[in-house]
Amino acid sequence: MPNPEIRIEELTSTEDLRQCVAIQRATWGWKDEDLLPLRTLLLLNKIGGLVLGALDRNGQVVGFINAFPGFREGQVYLHSQMLGVLQDFRRRGIGRALKLAQRTEAIRRGIQRIEWTFDPLEIHNAHFNLEGLGTLCRRYVADAYGPSTSSLHGRLPTDRLVAEWHLVSQRVRTRIESGAHGPEDPLPATSSAVHLPADIADIRVRDPARAAAIQRDFKRRVTDLLGKGYCIAGFESASPPGEVSYRLVPFQPQVLTS
Ligand SMILES: CC(C)(COP(=O)(O)OP(=O)(O)OC[C@H]1O[C@@H](n2cnc3c(N)ncnc32)[C@H](O)[C@@H]1OP(=O)(O)O)[C@@H](O)C(=O)NCCC(=O)NCCS
Repeated sequence: MPNPEIRIEELTSTEDLRQCVAIQRATWGWKDEDLLPLRTLLLLNKIGGLVLGALDRNGQVVGFINAFPGFREGQVYLHSQMLGVLQDFRRRGIGRALKLAQRTEAIRRGIQRIEWTFDPLEIHNAHFNLEGLGTLCRRYVADAYGPSTSSLHGRLPTDRLVAEWHLVSQRVRTRIESGAHGPEDPLPATSSAVHLPADIADIRVRDPARAAAIQRDFKRRVTDLLGKGYCIAGFESASPPGEVSYRLVPFQPQVLTS
């Protein structure tokens, strides 16, 4: 844990979980109908889900991550839903520590996969998910949640990529340990790239119509490649300058297990 003043714990008390509801409001600016309510947060830890919190030295929850138990391809997995860290505590390694603690607890329970969705236009999250954690994506879900009330999402359709985190794969271990492509990475070299403007976050605010066109074009190009058996396996910043790139390679099943 990079920050000695923060500790990561499983949250089970009503008071701690109530703070998670407050963090949802502060982080996403959602209306009440989009919040995960206290009752569900309380239920999660009782049904094989997981709520982990980052607590400061006063015991205040400053970030949290939650997951539901799921069942896919004959195996139990966790669907991670929200990861939020209060603004004043960001960029200190807390988000990463919450993700790694979630992985550790899942492995302890015998679970080998965690999935979550993310907005491909949120390029910092994309970098974190693909390069920092070693996830890969094989599915694109158009307008996954319908119109969002979050101030973070603007008015675009809530298109999402599904990040698959194969917890004990060599690919994930390499990324977590080195944060880079290691020699053991079983995916082949870059085969194809889909670009986005590096300033897509500003475009979303300044020119929503252009952002919508960029989103549609991204969806078309990515879903075409995913449909041909590619998966998203990497993310490159400033490559070429002014752009960021999703790296797609032909999917190979051994990457999930080796
Ligand atoms: C995403 C979020 C949880 C990250 O929390 P955090 O404590 O700041 O994360 P960390 O300090 O551990 O950084 C993790 C990675 O996030 C990425 N990142 C997040 N925000 C970033 C930013 N503004 N600029 C650059 N990188 C950023 C980086 O890749 C970083 O990895 P690195 O340190 O190896 O470069 C936090 O920014 C947040 O709550 N955002 C709003 C909600 C959200 O988008 N949640 C994720 C989708 S549900």
